[in-house]
Amino acid sequence: MGKKITAAITGVGEYLPDYLLTNEELSRMVDTTDEWIMTRIGIKTRHILKGDGIGTSYMGARAVLNLLDKTGTDPMEVDQVICATVTPDMLFPSTGNLIADQAGCKNAFAYDVSAACSGFLFALTTGAQFIETGHCKKVVVVGADKMSSIVDYHDRNTCPIFGDGAAAVLLEPSTDGCGVIDSILHSDGSGEMHLYMKAGGSRFPATRETLENNWHTITQDGPAVFKAAVSNMADVAVEMMERHGLKSDDVRFLVPHQANLRIIDATARRMGLAREKCMINIDRNGNTTAATIPSCLYDYEKELRPGDNLILASFGGGYTWGSVYVKWAYDGSKA
Ligand code: UT7
Repeated sequence: MGKKITAAITGVGEYLPDYLLTNEELSRMVDTTDEWIMTRIGIKTRHILKGDGIGTSYMGARAVLNLLDKTGTDPMEVDQVICATVTPDMLFPSTGNLIADQAGCKNAFAYDVSAACSGFLFALTTGAQFIETGHCKKVVVVGADKMSSIVDYHDRNTCPIFGDGAAAVLLEPSTDGCGVIDSILHSDGSGEMHLYMKAGGSRFPATRETLENNWHTITQDGPAVFKAAVSNMADVAVEMMERHGLKSDDVRFLVPHQANLRIIDATARRMGLAREKCMINIDRNGNTTAATIPSCLYDYEKELRPGDNLILASFGGGYTWGSVYVKWAYDGSKA
């Protein structure tokens, strides 16, 4: 019998727009301070995509091109492109479809996964299945969001939190036990009213009324989401460790969704991990929704070695949450 095929992450790419929105600039837009944002959330700057007529696919395609370049992959060899996003360029065609075209992945089938801040983990798990079954040899999973397109910059409760960005991974078959080992994913639609954008879909298509009521931007009950995030993200990360008999010493890094530094710290504490074992870039990038987890992998790639155990974990709108156990496949210092 042949060895089990797993989906190894064989490369990481990223694109962040140049413009940096600082806490100082935000404090001129709404009644807030650098001190409040740093102590309550942990964000200093976030990248914002400026320019008319460009959306999430613009960033996603650039992240994928960076990934293909870094890994020396011919775009024509990519079998599938999955884009996790809540800010698609348009309701249809899918942003994954646009990204595949712009990145030259002409032989790939492509589509979007919508699971808010957990979108990357849902898409990664989906992509891994296609590798494990032998259906695909090269799958690109990209997390991309232009959150600035749905943020109300008059609302101090939400505008400091979010940023724009895109990051992508390549999945390829491995038989040496590295790659996506396990996933635990959850959804609870009864959480819909705590974090959502009311209009623009089929329930409330755009009308003068939806515009006047400001229903085309994010509404969040921050404390409700915070409470649910802290308990569920930690529970699911610890469950993954227990399921695989992993002690804190066995975990090289927690790769958490970057929503709030206090949520990240609470999750790490429950897992028995020191701060140094948490991938963190929320201070520079803010919450880029589907892009946070691959963006962390991109920033810490140089520190990763074959066999390193990573626990990816997220919580977000929906509600959606989950954790994915990845055994790292390559020497990141050589990437
Ligand atoms: O990624 C998707 C999932 N999302 C999350 O995980 C987000 C989860 N929630 C959070 O991270 C936090 O709830 C927030 C960062 C959104 C808010 O922090 P908080 O500590 O829960 O603050 P709060 O909403 O309870 O507000 C506390 C106070 C309020 O003032 P009063 O009523 O106590 O006088 C707010 O009006 O802070 C005030 N406040 C602000 N003050 C200065 C809220 N936003 C700001 C602000 N600057 N930007």
